[in-house]
Amino acid sequence: MSNRQKTYTTGARFMLHGGDYNPDQWLDHPDILAEDLKLMKLSHTNTFSVGIFAWSALEPEEGMYQFEWLDEIFRTIDENGGRIILATPSGARPAWLSQAYPEVLRVNDSRVKQLHGGRHNHCFTSPVYREKTRKINELLAERYGNHRALLMWHISNEYSGDCHCSLCQAAFRSWLQEKYKDLKSLNDAWWGPFWSHTYTDWSQIESPSSIGESAVHGLNLDWKRFVTDQTISFFENEIVPIKAITPNIPITTNFMADTHDLIPFQSLDYSKFAKHMDVISWDAYPAWHNDWETTADLAMKVGFINDLYRSLKQQPFLLMESTPSAVNWHSVNKAKRPGMHLLSAMQMVAHGSDSILYFQWRKSRGSSEKFHGAVVDHDNSPNNRVFQDVATVGKVLEQLSDVVGTNRSSNVAILYDWESQWALDDAQGFGLETKRYPQTLQQHYRTFWERDIPVDVITKEQDFNPYKLLIVPMLYLASEQTISRLKAFVEQGGTLVMTYMSGLVDESDLAYLGGWHKDLQDVFGMHPLETDTFYPADENAVEYDGKSYRVKDYAAIINLKTATEEGQYKQDFYADTSAVTKHSYGKGCAYYIGARLEDTFHEAFYEKIIEELSLKLEAVIDHGKGVSVQCRYDDEHEYIFIMNFTEEKQVVTIPNSMKNVLSGENEEGEIILNVYETRVLKRER
Ligand code: GAL
Repeated sequence: MSNRQKTYTTGARFMLHGGDYNPDQWLDHPDILAEDLKLMKLSHTNTFSVGIFAWSALEPEEGMYQFEWLDEIFRTIDENGGRIILATPSGARPAWLSQAYPEVLRVNDSRVKQLHGGRHNHCFTSPVYREKTRKINELLAERYGNHRALLMWHISNEYSGDCHCSLCQAAFRSWLQEKYKDLKSLNDAWWGPFWSHTYTDWSQIESPSSIGESAVHGLNLDWKRFVTDQTISFFENEIVPIKAITPNIPITTNFMADTHDLIPFQSLDYSKFAKHMDVISWDAYPAWHNDWETTADLAMKVGFINDLYRSLKQQPFLLMESTPSAVNWHSVNKAKRPGMHLLSAMQMVAHGSDSILYFQWRKSRGSSEKFHGAVVDHDNSPNNRVFQDVATVGKVLEQLSDVVGTNRSSNVAILYDWESQWALDDAQGFGLETKRYPQTLQQHYRTFWERDIPVDVITKEQDFNPYKLLIVPMLYLASEQTISRLKAFVEQGGTLVMTYMSGLVDESDLAYLGGWHKDLQDVFGMHPLETDTFYPADENAVEYDGKSYRVKDYAAIINLKTATEEGQYKQDFYADTSAVTKHSYGKGCAYYIGARLEDTFHEAFYEKIIEELSLKLEAVIDHGKGVSVQCRYDDEHEYIFIMNFTEEKQVVTIPNSMKNVLSGENEEGEIILNVYETRVLKRER
């Protein structure tokens, strides 16, 4: 069990409520700024992220600084009782900077230098950009570091992307030299002789490009690793003056998710990034009420990402951005239906967020975000539905101060790995459209989400020991080190579940020779021989525990050795061979699921393991499908969030008397949850 001590990641003992505030867009409108302060009170907001894209307002000309407007924002927000998350402005730079120092402009993978414009597009190697960002950050830290209203630092905004300029090429080559020491090792790791790709001089190496090299998997993988490291190095450079001047103010940068399927953000390895941050924060924009999945299906995916980002540091995180209504960049930007805003906010808190923050406070008047949802609309009114919804969330959060700093606790972990995802996406083979690695993890997560069993979604370097059950679907890339850690986990008594397409390549994306890794063969008592890939209309089935389950996309053909067969293929040339196996190893047990199977298989399969391992149910609350129960704990209390993610009323049974945190009443027995309603209950531990 993880530590139940409270962790106040931001120092605040209250739920943060507020969000991106861009007064720099309104400096010519003092009436609007005065109005903001009144509306902040009325909306029950308390925390504002300021200065995210304010570089032009802070340094309108090179070396000519203008902080008075920000002084005034600090003063007035402070007087209003609010707190400030101060951003460094590197996410978008002034035109003068690009003009004076063109090296800060990115070069794309086709080696085309980009023009000034947009945002999130600096060269992350450029010494000039590093110097300029460090300078402005230093001035911000010196000026506001001791201000009472300063709560934390928001470094840049949503770091992403890469740059292929000559400075980055040189940095990449140095990174490679550092890693491989000599060209022979690099050529070996990248399988050099293939298509005559042996390098004879470091200067021949270029980053992957659509007009050049894109087929060398080792190069592609190393480039992605380099991009993560170089982004972190840029971030580290940004925080040098901040750490020196304000060592006690926590630092974050906002992470993202890829939105349509709500899977982890792909272009940076956040497991590495997390180590450099004090607090994880992320920007969540799920497409509620979409036309391709149920509300509960989407809620499950939001739960998955929350549990991944929370587990990166095993402490509460922050929701840094969300929309109070619609966004402006989904294909259809649908308004949140009544009740959804509060429900979606409660879900974030239930999974460990200590904040509900928005993009943005006030809708812009011009440019591309003028129709993006905001707390204050163009009507400037506190009476419209969205503003009222925000105020309702604010009032509820004010009653949840005791939840701040509490954590979650789990016996079950699912392993997600960015490097494996990159390598698998790059793999030419299997089904090009059907690999769906993160979606497969979500499929395994679903069974536990539906049973209210908490799950940590961890990464490969994290400690496996706290868990009774470790689920490792599709770990295509698995280093010797990861394999031996998995082996040790089972040896010492853990239960491990692995699936098809796991352990096929090493950390250089080179296939393992001599069949499946010997350690994996020992642990699983079997050996996957080949992977069959299905067309959508292809059929096969697995018989498991007397029932038949449909196979989709993938089926590993298995050579059974000392494992026992738990499921069997029913058709095709591998009919009657093993599809699901179980093997006792050391003090533990290892299961292998050879095929991609429908959800009902996972329900049956995990049901048995849940019983065998007596995996703790957070709170045994009886409810129907689409209701989710998630808990947070400290030493004394358990906070139980019961959330209705359906469009119908739901009957829920509370087994024994618990206090409703919002009404103060005790609840027991059958209660009715309205559409999208959340109850927050509390009980002594
Ligand atoms: C985020 C970004 C914000 C805003 C928002 C709109 O990705 O950080 O600045 O653009 O999207 O949804």
